[in-house]
Amino acid sequence: VDETYIMVKPDGVQRGLVGEIISRFEKKGFKLTGLKLFQCPQDLAEEHYKDLKGKSFFPKLIDYIISGPVVCMAWEGVGVVAAARKLIGSTNPLQAEPGTIRGDLAVQTGRNVVHGSDSPENGKREIALWFKEGELCQWTPTQEPWLRE
Ligand code: GTP
Ligand code: MG
Repeated sequence: VDETYIMVKPDGVQRGLVGEIISRFEKKGFKLTGLKLFQCPQDLAEEHYKDLKGKSFFPKLIDYIISGPVVCMAWEGVGVVAAARKLIGSTNPLQAEPGTIRGDLAVQTGRNVVHGSDSPENGKREIALWFKEGELCQWTPTQEPWLRE
């Protein structure tokens, strides 16, 4: 089963959007397997976004991610990685479709309220990076038969 790492960024926490953002994934029917409020240290932010290290905006991005607590989530489900990216919308919120999280709730790339893994491999990598073993929960939602035939 696919897993994705979703994170409400510090602007989303400060703006009181945590419940709204969690709700989008919950209502869709994916399974939450990890959830915590967390102040991210700089080295972890840099490791998480290491593929962007050469970019001009990298220092600003790291400052943004460590500027306040984030909400870390692991979600599971068939196709969850790509589906979560669709729910989140384009990187630039002004180009994100209405109905997506960024399209509905944000106006700038540098304050785009939420992160989602971009591949199943990165989903696994990022969940391992942000969560310790005992922080993840395997469980069977009772609504399962009403989500999948
Ligand atoms: P994430 O889900 O956070 O990984 O976003 P993404 O996959 O849609 O975009 P990408 O991985 O390319 O960039 C990661 C994050 O860096 C973005 O979500 C933005 O917060 C930030 N970022 C990307 N491009 C720019 C930019 O041109 N300027 C600024 N200020 N931030 C940027
Ligand atoms: Mg990305």
